[in-house]
Amino acid sequence: MRIVIIGTGGRLGAALARDYATTFDVRAYTRADLDLTDLDRTRELLRPLDFDLLINSAALTHVDYCEDHRDEAFMINAEAPQVLAELCQEKNAKLIQISTDYVFDGKSPIPYREEDEVIPLSVYGESKREGELRVLSASAQYLVVRISWVFGPDRPSFVDQVIQRARKTKQVAAVADKFSTPTYTLDLAQWLQTAWKKDLSGLLHLTNGGECSWQQYAQYAIDCCYHYGLALQAKRVEELKLSDMKNFIAQRPVYTVLSTARFTRQTGVKPRNWREAVAEYIKTYVIKDEN
Ligand SMILES: NC(=O)c1ccc[n+]([C@@H]2O[C@H](COP(=O)([O-])OP(=O)(O)OC[C@H]3O[C@@H](n4cnc5c(N)ncnc54)[C@H](OP(=O)(O)O)[C@@H]3O)[C@@H](O)[C@H]2O)c1
Repeated sequence: MRIVIIGTGGRLGAALARDYATTFDVRAYTRADLDLTDLDRTRELLRPLDFDLLINSAALTHVDYCEDHRDEAFMINAEAPQVLAELCQEKNAKLIQISTDYVFDGKSPIPYREEDEVIPLSVYGESKREGELRVLSASAQYLVVRISWVFGPDRPSFVDQVIQRARKTKQVAAVADKFSTPTYTLDLAQWLQTAWKKDLSGLLHLTNGGECSWQQYAQYAIDCCYHYGLALQAKRVEELKLSDMKNFIAQRPVYTVLSTARFTRQTGVKPRNWREAVAEYIKTYVIKDEN
């Protein structure tokens, strides 16, 4: 099977490229190899290739930057996926477009299902939603996978920043009134494979199990570090309110837990709890790097 992966300089794309290269014929593209703001060049690069599946993990992911760069956000997060969808149609290839929990307004008291109404609060969310629509309207065969709070070994994320800060200072704080679910890139690599082998199409929510606030996530990461014997300065993560984050430009949804029931129903696979995944990540990558 020949797979093209776009966005392999990023946290998820890099993990997918490494994981799949052991089994499949993978062509990996970083932003330097293929810039999605140049759509003619994108067509020129991909058109001569033969592939069976394209995974688009590239995106303009900086939520606050997007707020002030609407055109660029829509170009990368919506127009480019449409062009990728057209290229996949020409090749009769499958397409997996990665999307986000930020398409929701966060007002639901229970986990969001694929069929729930989307109301993006930010330009990032709007542009990613537009990308979903363009991919889904190109073919009923394509798969759009919404994920949340991505972490993994290929690019530092929230959990790494928390641990880094806890190494340096006793004062660590995180928002306690915003909730979602961490998603481990190495788990996602397995689930995506399951999804395309089962020919899933349409919208799909895929995250680890359970839910937490940023503060609970941070506290658990620090507890894991202590458990595995990593010396830190901080022990307790103080609670902040989302409204305390004066440096945030874009509005963030407060509750974006995604229900993965459809994935489990259609594949028989139940994503493991985020705590198990975070503990494994810290043990395998954070503690290992220390020794
Ligand atoms: N991170 C999260 O918590 C989160 C949550 C929900 C959904 N998602 C979605 O998950 C997917 C993967 O995100 P991630 O966590 O891996 O983010 P990431 O680390 O920021 O990766 C995104 C990649 O896209 C690349 N990119 C940006 N502009 C591009 C352009 N014009 N042309 C080509 N490539 C470009 C970036 O290039 P550089 O390497 O130059 O930066 C980066 O390598 C995205 O679709 C994102 O919307 C992420």
